[in-house]
Amino acid sequence: MNSVEILVKEHDNILAFLGAVKNACLNIIEGQEPDTGDFRKMIDFVRNYADGHHHGKEEKFLFDHMVKELGKIGKNLITHGMMVEHDLGRLYMSDLEKALDSYDEKPSTEAKLGIISNAAGYASLLERHIEKENTLVFKYAEKTFLRSLWIK
Ligand SMILES: [Fe+2]
Ligand SMILES: [Fe+2]
Repeated sequence: MNSVEILVKEHDNILAFLGAVKNACLNIIEGQEPDTGDFRKMIDFVRNYADGHHHGKEEKFLFDHMVKELGKIGKNLITHGMMVEHDLGRLYMSDLEKALDSYDEKPSTEAKLGIISNAAGYASLLERHIEKENTLVFKYAEKTFLRSLWIK
């Protein structure tokens, strides 16, 4: 398995997790009280695996190389595109954490809205982000320079 295939496999794990995030949001919309402990575990998963492990590898190795190798296209696609989305994901998680703190302190409909909007917003952001990496960014990296590295 090459490095891009490993990243794509990790995307599958993240997509399965995002399904669970959306289900937890749907449960609240259908009347269940938010399980804040569960949502905090989701934040841990994002920070440790999706962001820390997976995005960490993308940023440190593949994206870093793309920005250096691909000039203006690399800067536009990676620095102004994918990296901005990684940051937006971090913002969703910190706002989700604030909404959970607020709900734990004093349950309110407004805090529920904060939980749903940030958790579902994150899921939708990451689904589109992953689709873009799988179908465009990784393919472009393979076509422009990865293949020649693997052949050597
Ligand atoms: Fe990414
Ligand atoms: Fe990714």
